[in-house]
Amino acid sequence: MEYQPGLKGIVAAESELSFIDGINGVLLYRGIPIERLVEKYSFEEIVYFLLYGEFANLAEIEKFKEKLIENRQIPIYVQHIIDELPPNVAMMDVLRTAISSLELSETNIYEDAIKLIAIFPTIIAYRYRNIMEKSIISPDVTHSHVENFLYMLTGEMDQTKAKILEAYLILTMEHGLNASTFSARVTISTESDLVAAVTSALGTMKGPLHGGAPTGVIDLLNEIRTFDRINEVIMEKLMNKERIMGFGHRVYKTIDPRAESLKKMIVTLENLPKWMELAVKTEQETLKILHDYKPNYKLYTNVEYYAAAILKTLDLDPNLFTAIFSSSRIVGWCAHAIEQRRNNSIFRPDVKYIGEMRY
Ligand code: ACO
Repeated sequence: MEYQPGLKGIVAAESELSFIDGINGVLLYRGIPIERLVEKYSFEEIVYFLLYGEFANLAEIEKFKEKLIENRQIPIYVQHIIDELPPNVAMMDVLRTAISSLELSETNIYEDAIKLIAIFPTIIAYRYRNIMEKSIISPDVTHSHVENFLYMLTGEMDQTKAKILEAYLILTMEHGLNASTFSARVTISTESDLVAAVTSALGTMKGPLHGGAPTGVIDLLNEIRTFDRINEVIMEKLMNKERIMGFGHRVYKTIDPRAESLKKMIVTLENLPKWMELAVKTEQETLKILHDYKPNYKLYTNVEYYAAAILKTLDLDPNLFTAIFSSSRIVGWCAHAIEQRRNNSIFRPDVKYIGEMRY
């Protein structure tokens, strides 16, 4: 077999979770277009749909929401572990450490998935408010999963903002065999447990070429600052062989449908922030430059570009972006782990030896 760098074009698993058509910019969760899902369903309903394969009926969804609410609290010993971490430890490392210390059932992977999905926002908000020297806000049982996340982070409950965050979290829940999901599947394929799989995925998600990109987008726009500097900054980066964060995707060779949905949602907001105008203009100019400069690669805006815009519009700290993305993608990690366990074969690809023969 030929070596394929980055396993490009290699089919490494079968899945019923999402279908991606990168040429036409289509993304389906279990056969349904994400644009329809985001319009009609709540975060909780789509989590249930991805984990169990069917939409919940009224009684089922109520019970499911209850379970998520019950599992929001961080165990005291985990709070102590978080408290012991020095203030400069990155949020993704805090999340990875806290998650890896959780004690789960290991016998019921669905229950474990619910616990992990439920606790992510609380860990992020707890650590964030601690570091910012703000009072800790306990989970509020009257709020939905996403409302509660925003409330624990900011201390406020704004329905419009919660809806925007919910759309972002739904649109980024699942995306085939991306790098972090692949990590989760490899770990679970050794018959390890879900905590180990999610911990592996978090380590992979942290990198700037994957989940770390939104922070890079903010840095880029901060560097550009004004419309007249777009060309100069982008060209300088390309000349230095740097990648433009928020552009390009392994699968999409057209506009990423998630970026499109997020963009539509933001541009309809009243009083579009100045920063957002810069993001839209920078996107237009950068696409033109990339198409001229790298005509063979079909580089378009990816989800991280507008994720950055959404999170900035919500006034959330850029240091939280990758962790917030993880609080959504954990749903995909868990659903893939469940699938992998159902029909398991340990991942063990070959490597081509290119060293010397010394015997
Ligand atoms: N800016 C400039 N050039 C780029 C970019 C970019 N953002 N993305 C790809 N290219 C170029 C590469 O330099 C390469 O050109 P070269 O052969 O002349 O060096 C060519 O396009 C192909 O690049 P690959 O890395 O082979 O493409 P791949 O499909 O493996 O990369 C990736 C996908 C990692 C996302 C890449 O586009 C990238 O680094 N983008 C910037 C980071 C980013 O936005 N990441 C978020 C992705 S979305 C997500 O993870 C949820």
